[in-house]
Amino acid sequence: MEDLGPVAWPPEPIRTERLVLRASEARDRAAFMELLASPEVHTYLGGPQSPADLERETPAVPARWPGSFIVDLDGAMIGQILLRRATKHRPAAVGKLDLGYLFLPRAWGFGYAAEACAAALGWLAGEFPGEPVVLTTQSANVGSMRLAAKLGFAEVERFEAWEAEQWLGMRPGAAHA
Ligand SMILES: CC(C)(COP(=O)(O)OP(=O)(O)OC[C@H]1O[C@@H](n2cnc3c(N)ncnc32)[C@H](O)[C@@H]1OP(=O)(O)O)[C@@H](O)C(=O)NCCC(=O)NCCS
Repeated sequence: MEDLGPVAWPPEPIRTERLVLRASEARDRAAFMELLASPEVHTYLGGPQSPADLERETPAVPARWPGSFIVDLDGAMIGQILLRRATKHRPAAVGKLDLGYLFLPRAWGFGYAAEACAAALGWLAGEFPGEPVVLTTQSANVGSMRLAAKLGFAEVERFEAWEAEQWLGMRPGAAHA
């Protein structure tokens, strides 16, 4: 994966009905480390990182790169959306815009991920009109598969990688609403 390249970053915070999407700030560091250390979050993502490693390696302002949105509920980080460009990937995905998402377990089950991802995809369509977006998730990751379908991703293929079946989905490009 590589970052989005030439976009104006950070953008103005994006407000949805319940959430704000914004670039990361120093106050997100603890929640960011909690996200990366959570075994539950990483059930289908190859395992969590150790708190000691995270404490040592996480910068004062974590994950501040073009395409990394912090999802904020009432002033606190509840998740991260990662918009990148796929590099080493299946041929159908290489060079395409790529969506990823990680939410803290306490924020699951409220539709926050769907609300935030839809807004992030809207922003992305404004920056890269007409470009399709891909998404990869383990097919066993039921919540993620449901979210992908809700967001309009359709299956391209399933493949084996990282000792599990992976699902590659694509969402057709759309002009900015
Ligand atoms: C994948 C992940 C983001 C899904 O989170 P989620 O909260 O289940 O997703 P959604 O935002 O779509 O919320 C859906 C649930 O909220 C419920 N909900 C409650 N209030 C709602 C509302 N106002 N609007 C919409 N949905 C609502 C829905 O009914 C649904 O529940 P269900 O799953 O029991 O049917 C989350 O499980 C996660 O972070 N997992 C770890 C990271 C990961 O695996 N990422 C994938 C790799 S890219």
